[in-house]
Amino acid sequence: MRAVQILAGACLLTHAEFGLAHYQQDSFFPSPNATGSGDWKDAFIQAQSLTAKMTLEEKLFMVTGVEGPCVGNIPEIPRLGFKGLCLQDGPLAIKQVSYASTFPAGVSAAATWDKKLMHQRGVELGQEFFAKGAHIMLGPVAGPLGRSPFGGRNWESFGPDPYLAGVAMEETIRGVQSQGVQACPKHYIANEQETQRNPSSNEDGVTIEALSSNVDDRTMHEVYLWPFANAVRAGTSSIMCAYNRINQTYACENSKALNGLLKTELGFRGYVLSDWGGTHSGLNSILSGLDMDMPGPLAGSGASEDIESWFGRNITTMINNGSLEATRLDDMVHRVLTPYYFLRQDRESFPTIDRDTSQITAGVTGDVYPDFKDPFNLSPPDDMNRDVRADHAQLIREMGAASTVLLKNVAGTLPLHSPKRIGVFGNDAGAPSGGPFVVDAPIGVMATGSNGGGTGSGRIQDLVSPLEAIRDRSPHSYIQSVLDNDVLTSENLEGIYPAPDVCIVFLKQFATEGEDHSLELDYDATNVVETVTSSGSCPNTVVVMHNPGPVVLPWADNDNVTAILAAHYPGEQAGNSLADILFGDVSPSGKLPYTIAYSEKDYNTPIVNLTDVTDPNGWQLDFTEGLMIDYRHFDHAAVAPRYEFGFGLSYTTFTLSNLHIRRTSPTGKSQLQAYPPESGNPGIPQPGGHPSLWEVVASVSVAVHNTGETTGAAVPQLYLSFPTTSPAELTTANTPPKVLRGFEKIMLEPGQREVVTFNLTRRDVSFWDAVAQEWKIPRGDFGVWAGQSSRDEEFLTDVLRLREE
Ligand code: BGC
Repeated sequence: MRAVQILAGACLLTHAEFGLAHYQQDSFFPSPNATGSGDWKDAFIQAQSLTAKMTLEEKLFMVTGVEGPCVGNIPEIPRLGFKGLCLQDGPLAIKQVSYASTFPAGVSAAATWDKKLMHQRGVELGQEFFAKGAHIMLGPVAGPLGRSPFGGRNWESFGPDPYLAGVAMEETIRGVQSQGVQACPKHYIANEQETQRNPSSNEDGVTIEALSSNVDDRTMHEVYLWPFANAVRAGTSSIMCAYNRINQTYACENSKALNGLLKTELGFRGYVLSDWGGTHSGLNSILSGLDMDMPGPLAGSGASEDIESWFGRNITTMINNGSLEATRLDDMVHRVLTPYYFLRQDRESFPTIDRDTSQITAGVTGDVYPDFKDPFNLSPPDDMNRDVRADHAQLIREMGAASTVLLKNVAGTLPLHSPKRIGVFGNDAGAPSGGPFVVDAPIGVMATGSNGGGTGSGRIQDLVSPLEAIRDRSPHSYIQSVLDNDVLTSENLEGIYPAPDVCIVFLKQFATEGEDHSLELDYDATNVVETVTSSGSCPNTVVVMHNPGPVVLPWADNDNVTAILAAHYPGEQAGNSLADILFGDVSPSGKLPYTIAYSEKDYNTPIVNLTDVTDPNGWQLDFTEGLMIDYRHFDHAAVAPRYEFGFGLSYTTFTLSNLHIRRTSPTGKSQLQAYPPESGNPGIPQPGGHPSLWEVVASVSVAVHNTGETTGAAVPQLYLSFPTTSPAELTTANTPPKVLRGFEKIMLEPGQREVVTFNLTRRDVSFWDAVAQEWKIPRGDFGVWAGQSSRDEEFLTDVLRLREE
């Protein structure tokens, strides 16, 4: 399909300069029917056969949530042996239950740059959802991607680089689904800030619509859609559409985004479900590609103006009055049922829903679906509170350490060398003072920032605090601690005696769904560092922060701050993970999956925050920066970062050598065509888009050598500069100087050398040609850069030419 669509590719213009036309999008109808392609074929046939036996009423309850034990519920149909669906948050834990683990957040998973750990995290998350009887995990997250560092939910996802996020999405989804649990990547798409994510009413009762994220077609493909393409390719079962509008139309009724990009271009075979209260119409949403309304009736949730579902029995009316074809409803049901069969969730041995989830939910009622007395496959009362944690604490601890980024280490401050006296300071160091779990609030002033808040949080039960872990690791040290930041800033460490050999200051920032934030660490953090470092007792201060992503560090150049660790949101083993790094059991190998700037003003993507809005359409967020987010912006605008994307120190040193490029020709021809060749079967979309986009067209290898004295893991990274020599296509104005296109994590003994190979696919070397509506390999020379961060001073470079003509 090469429909011509006029969407200008130019970026960096303001809304006023360019006008709304820049973001114009076509509608896309009809909603394509799923066909059960590839490995989903048999499951699709089973889905068709069950659908054929359903009454209209049964079909509508397959696509409309009801109240029940889980955060989202599709009731059973006992007559047909269908066991219902339990949908549970979220991306870092099965949240709404007891005896479950709290894993590292998405930002932490990304900071490991370790595909195996990302995958294993997915596996173990999947195991816990499965064992609690949950069919669907509402995660992972690639929306927000992290366009703005101020976004409240960025920590749930994998950082603002689409390539890194794409790999993490794919590994997570494959891991989760390998355990028989459906993944539900969210929030699709361009859900990049919390402020006005939902509509509101002003004082006059006028509905003020949710924010519209206005994104041009090239940016959509190369940045925001990219990780969702990986998700579809990984075979994701479902996708959650977002609260926001995209180019003026709500995400859950956006035919271009759902029918066009997702179900046609990416060949998505599963079902789209709405974010909770994110549906704003019935028929229109269904025709535009929405397959399931969640949570159905919304009594008192406050998330939307709607109480009754737009779906449910309204669908009967639509069918009866002819506005909705029965085939579209069948398609919705097929899409819902196919992954259920594909993952064998119909099998007898699929666990019952642990009743503890309904203990925690406010109430369980089934009266929206009165024909069935017991619509949920709940565990018997003597089989509840099942402990599903297994040995998952091990992975959590390992990932917590692997995602900790060493930003500064003067004169070998770290690892600690058996200090006799340790000072521990700051309210991030201790056990939670506010109880184990408060759903939508910080877990207490006094608590380690192990994860953020909102639905992406976890019911953290066994939080190991840094103070506890440091005591365990250093039983003979004299440990003095002051955890109250008010005391620290007012009393200047008066009680500390004798002076510690090393002072460790713990700082944090709490980020949560529902609000955006500044980049200042919380609780007077800058003053805390100032007081501790100027007290006379702490000329050797290590600062550790639990941070959701980019933060500003005005104290980073303080001479008494001799080491800095960004520990992110590591989950329940926070203290142990950190102690493993501090005491040198593990050499730091985390790398920043985002940029740390000198100042908030250095970022080009503020949150839109308006007051006294009277225009219902007033909330507009133009993505005028185009592709230039995070490091791409810093490189493009020549702004010096404090710590660049991809950066992180180690206790050892690595060098790269022998950069080698090899072109491979998937078609057997020596010349690569600019556009993907016509697919063999263009009628049936392939999951992830045109199959040739995933074919390897070149590979780059590099030797990595551990030149230090310590075993440690290196993260060689591959960046490409796209040629900017083809007029009217790519220019330096619209194309980032460098983009990440490969990374590997490799553990090396001192002296060991290994060769690492990065495979470049057609998608990796293409840009989105908005006029042709195809990915296109540009003419000219690509710059190839292999290094250990996005601004490595010792980059190895070469050029790659893929098209001669
Ligand atoms: C959030 C989703 C979440 C859902 C169910 C919504 O408010 O945006 O991420 O999965 O609630 O709890």
